[in-house]
Amino acid sequence: MIPDKVPQEDVYHAPQDLVKGAHVPNFEKYKELYLKSIQSPEEFWGDIAKDFFWKTKHTGKFLDYNFDVTKGNIYIQCMEGATTNICYNALDWNIHQRNLGDKVAFYWEGNEPGDELKVTYRELLHQVCKFANVLKSVGVRKGDRVSIYMPMVVELVVAMLACARIGAVHSIVFAGFSAESLFERIMDSQCSLLITADGFYRGDKLISLKLIADDALQRCRDKGVPVEKCIMLKHLSKEQPDSPAASPSPPAKRPCPDLQQETPKDKVRKIRPKAQVPWNPEVDLCWHTLVDGASEECEPEWCASEDPLFILYTSGSTGKPKGVLHTVSGYMLYAATTFKLVFDYQPDDVYWCTADIGWITGHSYITYGPLTNGATSVLFEGLPTYPDMSRMWEIVDKYQVTKFYTAPTAIRLLMKYGSAPVQKFRRDSLKVLGTVGEPINPEAWQWYYSVVGEKKCPVVDTFWQTETGGHVLTPLPAATPMKPGSATFPFFGVVPAILNESGEELEGPSEGYLVFKQPWPGIMRTVYGNHQRFEATYFQKFPGYYVTGDGCRRDQDGYFWITGRIDDMLNVSGHLLSTAEVESALVEHPAVSEAAVVGRPHPVKGESLYCFVTLIDGVAYSTTLETELKQQVREKIGAIATPDYMQNAPGLPKTRSGKIMRRVLRKIARNERDLGDVSTLADSSVIDQLFNNRCPTAV
Ligand code: PRX
Repeated sequence: MIPDKVPQEDVYHAPQDLVKGAHVPNFEKYKELYLKSIQSPEEFWGDIAKDFFWKTKHTGKFLDYNFDVTKGNIYIQCMEGATTNICYNALDWNIHQRNLGDKVAFYWEGNEPGDELKVTYRELLHQVCKFANVLKSVGVRKGDRVSIYMPMVVELVVAMLACARIGAVHSIVFAGFSAESLFERIMDSQCSLLITADGFYRGDKLISLKLIADDALQRCRDKGVPVEKCIMLKHLSKEQPDSPAASPSPPAKRPCPDLQQETPKDKVRKIRPKAQVPWNPEVDLCWHTLVDGASEECEPEWCASEDPLFILYTSGSTGKPKGVLHTVSGYMLYAATTFKLVFDYQPDDVYWCTADIGWITGHSYITYGPLTNGATSVLFEGLPTYPDMSRMWEIVDKYQVTKFYTAPTAIRLLMKYGSAPVQKFRRDSLKVLGTVGEPINPEAWQWYYSVVGEKKCPVVDTFWQTETGGHVLTPLPAATPMKPGSATFPFFGVVPAILNESGEELEGPSEGYLVFKQPWPGIMRTVYGNHQRFEATYFQKFPGYYVTGDGCRRDQDGYFWITGRIDDMLNVSGHLLSTAEVESALVEHPAVSEAAVVGRPHPVKGESLYCFVTLIDGVAYSTTLETELKQQVREKIGAIATPDYMQNAPGLPKTRSGKIMRRVLRKIARNERDLGDVSTLADSSVIDQLFNNRCPTAV
């Protein structure tokens, strides 16, 4: 499975100073550890588990599982009998066992340059304990689900760790999602509490988060399932919301402690509009008032290994998002170990992952992975392009960032502006660069490697999914010779295979479905509230395997190359969207009778959305309607799903049985005339019409 030898030529190697002292210093060591992880998982993970705190040790097998639907229910169970707490491991254990109390956990860098904060491990623990006590005081108990809808602020980490500390299950919804998406996720996970903020700025744009959150809460009420409480953090506004009754305990009118003095933040924001903050005294509570009166001590809840830790929604091909459920011990070990080895974490590192915590990358590689290792990270609220194209490199220089993790879409965006904005700042602190979220094209890889890393930093192209919890195919920076665009080889404990359409495993150079043959500790355990959907989505197509939904090629040297999704999913700027989700948002418009959405390659986003809409009889297509339809999708899903192209399609290409031929639509979206076999088309006259009506902006 892992090749005996890897090529030494036409590949990229790590510099010698990185190899020296690396956790996995060469390919031989990687192979040796990989074999151990597969042949003796108990020993491999047992050694790793020794670095963590366990209230009680595990008694059963390290991993027990069934991956074969034909043999019964799918299950994955890790470390039966063990009890622990991930928040305790991330904070208390680092402070008491490793003496890291005064170490910086986060350098927070706000949207505005100069807007900054520093939080040590001890300070973070105090904030978390206080907020954990707040959660208890509003009635949150072990196993309860809590929705979190917040910007990239330290309090977001505090809220998630506080949930973990008391055994509550957090469900974070990315702050770019719409009220409808938030509502849908709150309903699905039956949350009793929502935590949000007044608002935030993304570059120049004000997002009034509380307003959107309120809209979502109203929708829950309309469905007869009200959320009991909503805690709001004042991130932008200094004034107390207009309701003393909102605060359960005095003092009711106290200004936010951290905003009493005028900061650079205030100076900038004074001239800007404030967030709109509606206030419902029946439901709303003020974060600051609650925290003021709370104790700094909170005994953690000792959780069983398979107790749920969090739910995170990801797009599903049916259009309804799936609540991916991760559990405590396996996820903790996997997030921590992948972080340590894939970024070759060293104690003096300053690590920066630019993802949002609302996505799995932020969960695993901003919060849980770095904190369980006692790392110092940058937590960035802003945009790579604001106030200018140098922002990322300015931050790298400011904090002397050593390990940097971002997405191909960000790299491609910055690449457009050339090397000057990068070279304005020194980047000689950098040691390892990482990418995640979509295949990286070799040109972007080369730019990242040469311009950003000045050919001194290995690029770890990490392939993984919300479902996998952590990296599953990835180079290790000192050990794996890199090929631009390849995620290279499996991480420890992961056994990939490539299958053909008949489900046969392909050997040697080949291309087909990427699957995994056995679980690793961090794999998801179920779809929240719908185990059957979990089995149907990931295990039904090829019994005995976890099916990723991605295509993959293995080259003559055994390297894995992800070729992209092979289901009805689109990857726009590293975010997965299902075509069905966008189509259903479009057909909800009264003018639309049918819609079909396909991906069209985009130089920055990777893929963009190209929508074909069939209007109901008598309705004329117009630019006003087009704007309304785009707005409709934004409102239903969020700005990330905004269609790039919209086309009037009086007829869609269908088979005789009525199935839309997306393959043909993809060609039309790309203006490729060679349509392949169209003999199954019911009415071929629609093709010319569709080519003639192509969206004028899609050249
Ligand atoms: O298609 C693959 C792509 O992103 C999908 C997972 O998306 P999500 O669950 O949102 O998680 C993204 C962050 C882990 C995968 O099925 N993908 C992710 N990383 C890569 C990738 N495709 C190619 N190369 C990668 N490194």
